Amino acid sequence: MDATSQRFLMCRPTYFAVDYAINPWMDPTGPVDADLAIRQWERLRQVYRELGHTVEEINPVPGLPDMVFAANGGTVIDGKAMAVQFRDPQRADEAPAYRAWFEAAGFELYDPKHVNEGEGDVLLAGDVLLAGTGFRTAHASHAQLQEVFGYPVITMQLVDPRFYHLDTALTVLDEHTVAYLPEAFSPGSQAVLRRLFPDAVHATLADAEVLGLNAVSDGRHVVLPEQATDLAAKLRDRGYEIIGVDLSELRKAGGGPKCCTLRLRRQGEADN
Ligand code: ARG
Repeated sequence: MDATSQRFLMCRPTYFAVDYAINPWMDPTGPVDADLAIRQWERLRQVYRELGHTVEEINPVPGLPDMVFAANGGTVIDGKAMAVQFRDPQRADEAPAYRAWFEAAGFELYDPKHVNEGEGDVLLAGDVLLAGTGFRTAHASHAQLQEVFGYPVITMQLVDPRFYHLDTALTVLDEHTVAYLPEAFSPGSQAVLRRLFPDAVHATLADAEVLGLNAVSDGRHVVLPEQATDLAAKLRDRGYEIIGVDLSELRKAGGGPKCCTLRLRRQGEADN
């Protein structure tokens, strides 16, 4: 299995907190260890560097506790960056911050016409873009994604509020393989997934409940929450090398490794 060297955008959780609840994981009355969150995030960044990936960073903004979840900052394919529009007002000001970063970095910019939470809901899987809807990203934005990026967009209907973003219910392992939690999808979307990915890895609810599907793969190494032990075993059986990380504090906001990681694909690097 070949690993591809990747470029990521991350945002240090300097101002991380759980101050509001916009998904079922978030309990603003519960304790969060902010220093531990930073150490766990630094470890994730170190794992990427050790795997030979490049990590770029965007400056965190005070008052935006969820900005650490860089996957929601945009969708970046083939040198084009589509900016985001959040469903919830608490996260609205993250969008211009990420947009400004893409512009400064020289990406061709596109503005969203509808709610679109970036790579949280938009995952490139080989030659198709899988696009989630049901909780956050609006179905209407899927047509715009297809128009901007020129990939066929396949709508994925999410049905369980705990798995509110596509990247909490499905992970792309390589150009041909995904892992997912079937019951997080509508019956029709499950049928589409079976048709497109007959060899997919099916995760258990226990794996998904520790955000095990919120993983980052370079085609050979899979970085995923260390608590997702069943999924790790299944992926090892398939020949992947597993690197477990602990993001227990960020999980209190409903985020894992993939949420913290936005893939930056320059022109010509569109493969998974
Ligand atoms: N608290 C954030 C929210 O609810 C978590 C975002 C997680 N990001 C992701 N790509 N799934 O929006």
